Amino acid sequence: MEYVILNGDLIERSKAKVDIEDRGYQFGDGVYEVIRVYNGKMFTADEHLERLLESGKKIELNIPYSKDQLKQMLIEMIERNNLELGIVYMQFSRGTSPRNHAYPGADVAPVLTAYTRETTRPVESMRNGVKAILIEDIRWLRCDIKSLNLLGNIMAKQKAAQSGSFEAIQHRGDTVTEGSSSNIAIVKDGTLYTHPATNLILNGITRRKINEICRETGIALKESAFTKEDLLAADEVFMSSTSAEVTPIIEIEGKLIGNGSPGPITNKLQNLFEESIEKQCGSLTVKIR
Ligand code: PDD
Repeated sequence: MEYVILNGDLIERSKAKVDIEDRGYQFGDGVYEVIRVYNGKMFTADEHLERLLESGKKIELNIPYSKDQLKQMLIEMIERNNLELGIVYMQFSRGTSPRNHAYPGADVAPVLTAYTRETTRPVESMRNGVKAILIEDIRWLRCDIKSLNLLGNIMAKQKAAQSGSFEAIQHRGDTVTEGSSSNIAIVKDGTLYTHPATNLILNGITRRKINEICRETGIALKESAFTKEDLLAADEVFMSSTSAEVTPIIEIEGKLIGNGSPGPITNKLQNLFEESIEKQCGSLTVKIR
């Protein structure tokens, strides 16, 4: 039996029903998070839940739980479902009320839904790297909010999938912003560049961890925007996200990056990222190397 969270309750999945006038369903009016689970333990749960509360604040969606209450609910769901390796998905919509673009009154409570899913680590693509395409970033100007509105992102990902690529790297004009569901970093002459955490990207938790690792280990880091040309001329390129961790990108629009295999700084960051997972969640049975 699989259990999910509907508002405060842990219930059987088949019994969890949401109204057709839920604002998440009708307007994409809500916020969400995806958290990795390794060895039955959430990785960087505090950071994800803090970002969820922040995303809520940014759209004036009042989440009626504290970070610790949310964490406790998720822990109970993970335990109930015996999830060892996978993800937790969690979202808040602005609740159910007769369709009207303007927000409903304070009497309408947000709707919380959450579930677990078993997923392995993508070790093949982390070892060998993946292909990407380039695509104009057509999304709105508040990409810092982890909103349920993902049309721009899914259209970009679909284009990548159709062309046999793993990720679509988005750019606004010449400036590279981020992937359809990941952050993008490049390495040039030993320095790592990644778009600054502005309104144009989601400030990924994986991105933050990587930046922290760079600062701790002396890898030169510049949080500054780079161009499409910089991207294609980079020594190394990688994407980062909760599900893809640190995944090398070895080919973009048919052009090889470096010599077409994952580079040394990417490999080093993968190892150090894996170490930080093990520090929080215990030894991993399936490792990158
Ligand atoms: N992706 N940018 C976008 C647009 C994203 O959707 C994501 C997350 C990221 C990376 O954020 P984080 O490192 O916090 O996962 C950046 C989903 C959740 C995923 O691929 O798991």
